[in-house]
Amino acid sequence: MHTGEILSRVTNDITRIQNVVTNMIPNLIRESLTIVALTGYVIYESPKLAFYFLIIMPLALYPLSILAKKMKKYSKLSQESTSDMTSRLGEIFSNIEVIKANSSQELEGEKFAKENQNVFKYLLKQVKVNALTSPIMEILGSVAIGLVIYIGGSEVIEGRMTVGAFFAFATALFMLYTPIKRISSLYNQAQDAIVANERMFELLNTKPTIISGKIELNEQIKHISIMHASLNYGNKIALNDVSAGADHGESIALVGDSDAGKSSLVNLLVRFYDPNEGEIIINDKYNIKDLTLKSLHQKVAYVTQRIYIFNGTIAQNIAYGQEFDEQKVIEALEKAHALEFIKNLDDGINTMLTENGNNLSGGQRQRVALARAIYKKPDILILDEATSALDNKSEALIQKALEALKSEMITITVAHRLSTIENSDAILVFKEGQIICRGQHIDLINECEEYQKLAKIFSN
Ligand SMILES: Nc1ncnc2c1ncn2[C@@H]1O[C@H](COP(=O)(O)OP(=O)(O)O)[C@@H](O)[C@H]1O
Ligand SMILES: [Mg+2]
Repeated sequence: MHTGEILSRVTNDITRIQNVVTNMIPNLIRESLTIVALTGYVIYESPKLAFYFLIIMPLALYPLSILAKKMKKYSKLSQESTSDMTSRLGEIFSNIEVIKANSSQELEGEKFAKENQNVFKYLLKQVKVNALTSPIMEILGSVAIGLVIYIGGSEVIEGRMTVGAFFAFATALFMLYTPIKRISSLYNQAQDAIVANERMFELLNTKPTIISGKIELNEQIKHISIMHASLNYGNKIALNDVSAGADHGESIALVGDSDAGKSSLVNLLVRFYDPNEGEIIINDKYNIKDLTLKSLHQKVAYVTQRIYIFNGTIAQNIAYGQEFDEQKVIEALEKAHALEFIKNLDDGINTMLTENGNNLSGGQRQRVALARAIYKKPDILILDEATSALDNKSEALIQKALEALKSEMITITVAHRLSTIENSDAILVFKEGQIICRGQHIDLINECEEYQKLAKIFSN
C-alpha cells in the first residue's frame, strides 16, 4: 500500500468516523426517544388517524434507502480520492529535490490539481445526496399531514372527534415530523462512517506475514547458518538454494553484480522476509522464525545505503531503541569516525537533526547510522553498502574501526569496493540469486572468473 493511502486511512477516514459518531449518537438517542413518545401519544389520541400516518411514513424508507446507497457509493469514492490526493502530496514532498531539479513543479501542480478536483467532485456529490433527503421527507410529510387534516377534519365535522382531540393529535403529528427528518438525514450521513469503517478494518485486519516466534534469545549469537534458503518476490526468484555460515568473530563479505540477491540475503537475517524454502539457524539450535523478533533485533544491527534519521538530537538518533548512555554514544561516534564533525557542531551530540537529516551531508548521515549500529553492540552487524556515500579516506578509517570490533561480533558486509573486503574471512560471490564461488580473496582472485571480473570493475 502507498504510504499516503495508509496515512489517509488513519487520519481522514478516522476523522469521518469521529464526526459522525460524535454528532450521531447524542442526536440519535434524543430523536428516537422523541419519536417513540410522540408516536405513542398519537396512537393513544386516535388510533384510526394514526394508522394513516403510520402507513405513509414507511413509504419514505424506499427513496431514503436509494439515497443511502448512493451516499455510500460517493462516500467510498470521496474517501478513495482523498487517499489518492494524500498519496500524491506525500510523493511530491518526498521527491521535492527531483521535482525542483527537473523544474517539473507545474506538471506536479497540474497532477495535484486533478486529484484535488476529484476530491471536490465527490464531496460535492455527497453534499447533494444528503440535501436530497430533505425535499423527499418534506413531500411525504406534507402528504401525510394533508391526509390527516382531511380525514381528521371529516371526523370532526361528523362529530366523531372533538376539536380539542383533533388539535392535540395534529400538533403531536407536526412535532413528529422534525425528528423523523433528522434521523433520516443522520442515517444518510452515517453511510460515510460505514464506508470509512470498512476501509479502516481492512487495514486493521491485515495480518503481518512475518510473525514473531515465542523463544527469547538470551544468549550470544555464536554461529549462524543459512541452510538452502530460497526467496521469491512474487514470481521473481531472488535467492535460489543459498547456504552459508558464519562464526563469532568472523567477517563475511557478499559481492556480485547488482540484483544478484545480496540484499535479499541480509533481509532474511533481519526477518524482513522469511525464506520460501530452507531455514536460518542460530547457534545450531534456534530457527530464527521461532525467536521473538524483539530479542532477535536486539542482537542484530543493520545499516543500509538508505539512511533513516528520526526527528531528534544526534544522541537520540544514536541510542535509538536502546537505553541512553552518553558515554556510550560518544564511544560509538568515535568508532564510526563521526565524533570529529559532530564536535564542530554548535550543540555537539545534542544538535537537532532536521527531517531526514537534511542538515548533514550524505557521508555524515551514513556515519550516524553506523554509530547507531555500533551503539547496540550487536552480535551480528550487517552493512549493506553502508559506506557507499563515504570518500575513500573516511571509508578506510571506518574499515579500521570495524576491524577492531570484528572479534566481538559476526560482520556481514555487502561490499561495493574490493578494498573493503580483501581481509574478510570469507567472500561469497553472488550471481543471479546463487553463490557461485566462495573463499578468501587470494583464492578467488585466482580461481573465480566472476570475482576476477568484479575485481577488474572495482579497480577501475
Ligand atoms: N521488494 C522486492 N520486490 C520485488 N522484487 C525485489 C524486491 N527486492 C529485490 N527484488 C528483486 O530481487 C532481485 C535481487 O535483489 P537484491 O537482493 O536487492 O540485489 P542486490 O542487493 O544484490 O543488488 C533483483 O532482481 C530485484 O529486482
Ligand atoms: Mg542491494
